[in-house]
Amino acid sequence: MKAITLRQPAGLDNLVRVELADPGAPAPGEIRVRIRASSLNFHDLGVVTGRMRTEDGRIPMSDGAGVVEAIGDGVTEFAVGDAVVSTFFPYWLDGGPTLADFSTTPGDGVDGYARESVVRPAQWFTHAPRAYSHAEAATLTTAGLTAWRALVVDYALKAGDTVLVQGTGGVSIFALQFAKQMGATVIATSSSDEKLAKASALGADHLINYKRDTDWAAKVLEITNGRGVDNVVEVGGPDTLGQSIRACRIGGHIALIGVLTGLAGQVPTAELMRRQQKLQGLIVGSRRHQIDMIRAIDANGIKPVIDSTFALDEIADAFRHQAAGKHFGKVCLAV
Ligand SMILES: NC(=O)c1ccc[n+]([C@@H]2O[C@H](COP(=O)([O-])OP(=O)(O)OC[C@H]3O[C@@H](n4cnc5c(N)ncnc54)[C@H](OP(=O)(O)O)[C@@H]3O)[C@@H](O)[C@H]2O)c1
Repeated sequence: MKAITLRQPAGLDNLVRVELADPGAPAPGEIRVRIRASSLNFHDLGVVTGRMRTEDGRIPMSDGAGVVEAIGDGVTEFAVGDAVVSTFFPYWLDGGPTLADFSTTPGDGVDGYARESVVRPAQWFTHAPRAYSHAEAATLTTAGLTAWRALVVDYALKAGDTVLVQGTGGVSIFALQFAKQMGATVIATSSSDEKLAKASALGADHLINYKRDTDWAAKVLEITNGRGVDNVVEVGGPDTLGQSIRACRIGGHIALIGVLTGLAGQVPTAELMRRQQKLQGLIVGSRRHQIDMIRAIDANGIKPVIDSTFALDEIADAFRHQAAGKHFGKVCLAV
């Protein structure tokens, strides 16, 4: 079986193609999946470049989508031939969050999906949306579910709300699409006018170039007549959080998701308190959340925006493309 492993010290030049033993037949409760696609996330980039430490020989990639090739005794949820997609937290099935780390996350704490086949407990996968290609399904595990949780699970978005999405990466474009589908007004920011034009084509109502309008919170307040947005999909982290607090309405919600500008920084705590906002940290979501999101996708027909697809052997080039910030939406791997 063909796979990609990450040799230590981690780095894009240490992503090595290997032949591994065939994973064999599934035991009771397990399924065997022929992986057909994965998608790149900022988290995966952190793993393969060594920003997030992993074991020598780790198979990278948290997202995996493909076809069930065999089922073990007792598996009733899946049948041979079903299209499936992996989950980010294989043991967080339902209820509130239970983990604050990536020790069980494929492609980080355990081996991921840069490989042809895998045998895993059935609960590590869900059905894929009915009308999705494998590449499209692979975008859901991390980016899709994070956006869904920020809008629907933690915030309960409703028609008429205004949402601020930052940049045009995987999470933010999903958030834009989900928010528009649900009848919200969306303010999108980007470093690029060209990407803002694409965001507009996807339905973004207001566009801000955060490189040109460095005080973008003021722009958001201008657009919302001083009120601020109801929900911020905060992917920037320390350098953007202060402006997100200013751009969010009194009593609004900020989904604290990303670390694009770093891991720690100053938070204007008094302003957060004064504006009586909810600041909710989150990591992706549960299997239940994923099933709910896919049910919604089956109903509303949203399709992810795939910027580009690379072959598994071109995985290092795929990450270079992502790291250069050239992408709009998701970068995928075809396995
Ligand atoms: N907590 C979670 O569960 C979770 C899940 C997924 C991702 N994340 C985090 O969310 C962030 C985004 O992840 P992703 O996978 O969507 O990344 P991605 O696809 O690589 O997107 C990165 C994009 O972010 C934008 N960006 C960069 N710096 C920015 C800034 N200062 N202000 C606004 N936008 C900025 C850029 O968009 P433009 O080119 O348009 O400027 C860039 O293309 C990362 O920090 C990632 O670790 C967290």
